[in-house]
Amino acid sequence: MIIIFEQLAKHEMLGFVPAVALIKQRERDGWSLSALARMISKTPELRDAYDALLSGIRLSAAFDPGKSILVTSAQPNEGKTTVASSLAITASFAGQSVLLIDGDMRRPWLASAAGIADGIGLGELLDGQAEAGDAIHPFELFENSQEAGSLSIMAAGRKSSAFLPAVDWSKARTAFRLFSQRFGIVLLDSPPILAVNDALLLGGIVDGILLVVDAGSADRDAVRRAKEQLEPIGTPIIGAVLNQFDPKIHGRPNQPYRGYYLGSPR
Ligand SMILES: Nc1ncnc2c1ncn2[C@@H]1O[C@H](COP(=O)(O)OP(=O)(O)OP(=O)(O)O)[C@@H](O)[C@H]1O
Ligand SMILES: [Mg+2]
Repeated sequence: MIIIFEQLAKHEMLGFVPAVALIKQRERDGWSLSALARMISKTPELRDAYDALLSGIRLSAAFDPGKSILVTSAQPNEGKTTVASSLAITASFAGQSVLLIDGDMRRPWLASAAGIADGIGLGELLDGQAEAGDAIHPFELFENSQEAGSLSIMAAGRKSSAFLPAVDWSKARTAFRLFSQRFGIVLLDSPPILAVNDALLLGGIVDGILLVVDAGSADRDAVRRAKEQLEPIGTPIIGAVLNQFDPKIHGRPNQPYRGYYLGSPR
């Protein structure tokens, strides 16, 4: 039996998100940002998990005094998009001003989840074709909401990710610094690290990186390789969040080191 936390030993395990059957229904029933917000607001275990994760991020020495976070994972389907959007929603519930950005130009999701046109987004901003003001849209999670703080979103845009290597990254970093001044927290969703280079490029323009690790499918070597690829960027890895965590299978969240084992002996 292999403990996955060996690969994360240097970094804090920042939080645990329970497996929630309702989220699994997303693909069957369609999915929107507002539907996810409704689910979080009426599922205390989810709300608590994301509140705890936000506190963990805020208290992280590696991140202080950062604002912008790349949400990524080693492999596809570990929950990056769900975690990034749920964190954005929870932070806005807590009264923060939040900017949620879709950094996955290969599988963009935010424009359709928010019901906005995907004309101008991160791609156009990075390519110098658009100003931030044209790409950022204020978004109401609920009609007549008293709960939500202020959430703004930026779609992925219409460009394919092929242009990313040619981007002026120092200019992009400056744009993200401005976002950090304007918003309380900035969350940037991304493709998986081991599949394509995009997340490594985007990792250079944020203040910190949050690694999503799927409790059911995570592979010890994949997490190690992802970390090895992230480290040379120099952006601090704030920590990891274990997604789809089930205490019956993976141990109690306060004692994950004892309970959480992965795979067969290697
Ligand atoms: N805590 C959870 N409980 C139940 N289902 C979840 C949870 N987190 C994510 N899922 C489901 O797992 C699937 C993958 O999630 P998501 O799309 O967020 O992953 P991803 O890492 O962004 O994938 P990709 O690599 O394709 O971008 C989705 O169907 C989502 O609804
Ligand atoms: Mg995704």
